[in-house]
Formats: sequence, C-alpha cells, structure tokens
Amino acid sequence: MPDRVEIFDTTLRDGEQSPGASMNVAEKLEMAAQLERLNVDTMEAGFPVASEQEFEGVRKVAAMITNCKVAALARAVKGDIECAARALEPAKKPVLHTFIATSDIHLEHKLRMTRQQVLDRTGEAVALAKSLVERVEFSAEDATRSDWDYLTEVVKTAISAGADVINLPDTVGYTTPGEIEEMFRYIIAKVNAPAHVVFSSHNHNDLGLAVANALAAVRGGARQVECTVNGIGERAGNTSLEEVVMAFKIRNNVYPYFTNVVTEEIYKSSRMLSNITGLVVPYNKPIVGRNAFAHEAGIHQHGVIASRITYEIMTPESVGRSRSELVLGKHSGKHGLAKKCEELGFKLTETELSTLYQKFIALADRKKEVFEDDLRVLIASMRDESFVTYHLEEVTTAGHNPAMAMVKLRKGDQEIIQTAIGDGPVDAACQALEEAIGFSGKLEEFHIRAATPGKDALGEAHVSVRIEGTLYNGTGASTDIIEAAVRAYLNALNKYLAIRSTK
Ligand code: KIV
Ligand code: ZN
Repeated sequence: MPDRVEIFDTTLRDGEQSPGASMNVAEKLEMAAQLERLNVDTMEAGFPVASEQEFEGVRKVAAMITNCKVAALARAVKGDIECAARALEPAKKPVLHTFIATSDIHLEHKLRMTRQQVLDRTGEAVALAKSLVERVEFSAEDATRSDWDYLTEVVKTAISAGADVINLPDTVGYTTPGEIEEMFRYIIAKVNAPAHVVFSSHNHNDLGLAVANALAAVRGGARQVECTVNGIGERAGNTSLEEVVMAFKIRNNVYPYFTNVVTEEIYKSSRMLSNITGLVVPYNKPIVGRNAFAHEAGIHQHGVIASRITYEIMTPESVGRSRSELVLGKHSGKHGLAKKCEELGFKLTETELSTLYQKFIALADRKKEVFEDDLRVLIASMRDESFVTYHLEEVTTAGHNPAMAMVKLRKGDQEIIQTAIGDGPVDAACQALEEAIGFSGKLEEFHIRAATPGKDALGEAHVSVRIEGTLYNGTGASTDIIEAAVRAYLNALNKYLAIRSTK
C-alpha cells in the first residue's frame, strides 16, 4: 500500500455547512485559489443541486482550478448526479462524489428504504455517475454505525459499478480510533478491491476525536483523508486539515505516511478562511491559533531562547507563521505594502491596492506598529465592501444605560441618519442600524478581541446574527471597539441583503 495519503479538502462544501459560514461565489473562488496553493489533492467545491448560486460556485471553481482535482457532491439521485456532472464540465480533473446512507438507523428513519433497495440504488447511482465523469467517489453515509458485513456488500457493489474512491464517513462523530482502524482493516480485507481503488476517511468532531480517528483510519488502510481548514464543518466540525497534516509530518515515526500539502501555506489558508467566513479561530487551536506558538511561562521562554527544541515540536515558519509578525511602518510605501500583501497570499488589483494604502496610512497614523493580522483585517474589511449595500460613515454614542447612538449610513448616493436608544452603546447603535435599514436580526453571538498586540490594537468584532431563521456571521474592525462592533453587525446585515438579492 502506498505511503502517501491524499488530502481531500471539503472546506468549500462540508465546511461551508457550518452555521453562518456560507460563502458567495467570489469568496469561494478566493479560497479555492488558496487551497490550490496549499496543494490539496482534491477540493470539494460544493453541492450543485442545492441552489443556483451553489451550482455557479462549483462551476467557476472547476473552471479556475488547474492542478487539484475538483469534486462536486450529489445524493444517489439521478437529478443530483446529472446536475453535479454539469457543474463539473469545465474541470480539468473532475470527481463526482455521490453518497447514500448505509446504517439501519438512517435506512429506517430517514430513507425509509430496505437494505436491498440501498444496494440497488448504490449500483445505479455509481454507474450513472461513472457514465458522466471519469472519476467517481462513493460515500456510505453513517458508515461507522452500519453493519460491517452489509457495508462490505455496499462497497463491493459501488466498486463493481465503477467507483474509484470509497469513503466510509463517521457522519455523526461517534466512532473511536481503535474501532475505526478495525473497521477499515475489516472492510478492505473483505472487499479485496482492485489496486487503483482508494479508501477514504471522513470524520466529524462531535467527541473531539476527528483527527485521531482520521489517523487511525490511515493505519487501518485508508489513503485519503477528508478534512477542512480550521476544522470547520457541520456541528462540531470536521477533521482539521492542519492538524492531520502536521501530525503526519511531525510524528512520522509513528505515522509513516506523507501528504503533498505545502505546509508553509497553512497559516495563510486559516486566516483567509476566518476572514471570509467570520468564524473565529480559538486562541488555543493547534497550529493556527494565536497562542499555538506563544510561550507565556518564563521557564518556557528561557528554554526556547536557549534552544527551540525544549518546548517546540515544530517551528512557526513550517506552517507559514513568522515569529515577528511586525510588518510595516508609515514609511514603508505603497510598493512595500504590495510586496507584503503578496507574501500574505493576497493578489490585489491596482484599485484595491490604492484603497488599501489609504486605509493603511490612516491606521499607521493611529497605531505605532502595523502587524500582519492588521493587514489581513484591513484587506478583509475592504473586500467585504464589494457586496455591501449600506456603508457605515459614522457612529457616535453617548451615555451607558440607557445609551443613545447616531449612525450615518450611505447607500449609493443616499445618506441615511438614524438615532436610537438602547441598553449600552453597542445595543443602541445596532438598533439605529436596524431602524435605518428597515429590518432586524437577532444577535446570537458577539465577540470582540484585539487583532494584534498593544493598547492601540485594532479591535476585531465578530457577530452571529439570525435573520429569517438563517445565521449570518459578520466581522468588523476599528481601533474604536464600539465602531468595530457596529461594523460587524452591519457586515452581517449586508451579507443577508446580498444573499437575498440572488434568490
Ligand atoms: O458526513 C458525511 O457523511 C458527509 C458525506 C456526504 C460524505 O459529509
Ligand atoms: Zn461530513
């Protein structure tokens, strides 16, 4: 069996199923380009039948990507499969990914199908997919809660119908490392598949075991791991790409496998995704969290200065982070700024660069030191403006409880000024926003944190707002934390408006 493990990234599909993480087409394209730089083997671009926007997103990613395989998801249903095949038409290396559940729980309560019906459907779906697209992946949803002998029959049927990849997902994050390793060993031995067939592991993190389960599945014979950047995904998320890739690299003596991921692109990918989706990366998240390489205790700092190996199992540079993330000062100039943006993985147009430069100078005036994260936040806020309906021109607040706020918005040429009273300045300003725009949402989450070190840091606000039953994440930044919060709230409202306008 080969030692290489393929990385199937599903950030743009399963990852996008995280509440509030939906991306518009431009954002998907930006992230897809970064995944290509990260050098994943396959990127799953979406579920085309879900909506016109989703179809368009997959098609555009398929047309743009040259090196990686591009996958599209389809239920084991004729219409879904034909739609996914159409979306994949421009792809250089397309993969049609079709799935059906195989656990008795799903058969009885969701599909209302017998085991024989699911077997038949598997054969038909894979054969249809194979007639339309050269490479087909078949997933047995809820595999880890399925009967192993029945699962063996389903897998044999899928392979006979032409499946090239067999994925055995832990859809509900229920399995354990020992169990999944045994399951892969058992199924692979019983199926006796042709050499070209790759077994794949797709894990959810409900018990915090997704990465451990993926590593164990590889020991059991899987040679593809499905994962997402920052581990985002349904519920508690999916296997985290950066954790599984670095585990292979750092503990190669225990897991003697390698991936083709360019690990130096990991941090960039993480930051870009967080900026696009508004999903905050916890400070203590392995590899990509802010504190992942921070040594707080004096004894640790002393050790690291003497020799890194005392308390560091990998270098920040190996995942694309630098020890000193101080980048630019006021005098760095536009050229220096452009160079730094390129290093950070952002390709800016001339117009974007000019806008960014103005924002950078304004920030450098207020703040002594400008860090990489400041730049990322500035770029994200600038990019967000491309789909913005309402722009925030000014916000002022007075008092505390009750507080009064005035917001000044611009929509095209129209200027809107609105005041409101609320419990505290942020509440008052958000109410003023809602009254100015004419609809309201329910604020479900609100976090504010410093984007970079120092008392004069940019405050980065993240909100989750529920509007008509759907969650929209918003981010906003400013050296004034009330303004950051208001910008984040407006960002979420603008996302809702942008998505509503495409329906
Ligand atoms: O978790 C799951 O079972 C899935 C499949 C569609 C692969 O996401
Ligand atoms: Zn999944």
